[in-house]
Amino acid sequence: MGEVILIDHPMIQHKLTLMRKEETSSKDFRELLEEIAMFMAYEVTRDLPLMPVRIKTPICETEQNIIEGKALVIVPILRAGLGMVSGLHRLVPAAKVGHIGLYRDPKTHKPVEYYCKLPEGISEREVILVDPMLATGGSAVDAITLIKQKGGVNIKFMCLVAAPEGIKAVQDAHPDVNIYTAAIDECLNENAYIVPGLGDAGDRIFGTK
Ligand code: PRP
Ligand code: URA
Repeated sequence: MGEVILIDHPMIQHKLTLMRKEETSSKDFRELLEEIAMFMAYEVTRDLPLMPVRIKTPICETEQNIIEGKALVIVPILRAGLGMVSGLHRLVPAAKVGHIGLYRDPKTHKPVEYYCKLPEGISEREVILVDPMLATGGSAVDAITLIKQKGGVNIKFMCLVAAPEGIKAVQDAHPDVNIYTAAIDECLNENAYIVPGLGDAGDRIFGTK
């Protein structure tokens, strides 16, 4: 079964509390999401493969490590996952970016796919799938399935707020995928929104409601 890695550094908890507040503006929400994504990226990229390079310091020649060139693909689930890409890119600027477009049907709460474009060579790269919200888990489960269909084998899922229901769905469907989250909330409400959650992440990022 996939592991759940809770990244609850005090700075992340503080910033996430600000994001949860109803009165937080779209501008602040976006900035906080980017900052948290950058903090989380340290943990998510902990086991990235390194390769040795020879360099010269002002003192001497030495062999040191750098991250392997073909290391990483970031895949945001549209729309809200877009808000996490820049934070990851600040740590790994060479990472390629794929996009998966899914929206939840308002009645059934099931994901509907509308876009998928992933970089070539995905089977040789580590894939970090990002979406701030893991609610029923339907979107994450389908996005991981799409990545696997295109050849992805080494996949991590990074979110901000996870519901127990979503964690279980991902673990059941994709036991090879570890989940990195900044919080595990209580439950889902009757509209399949996370409680206490932070509302509709896409709307809050893009100011659409
Ligand atoms: C939200 C969120 C996730 C999904 C989570 O997207 O960003 O993708 O819901 O819910 P689930 O775990 O129950 O599938 P939404 O469908 O609202 O689309 P949007 O980002 O375009 O607003
Ligand atoms: N999508 C969101 O943006 N928020 C939730 O709480 C659930 C799904």
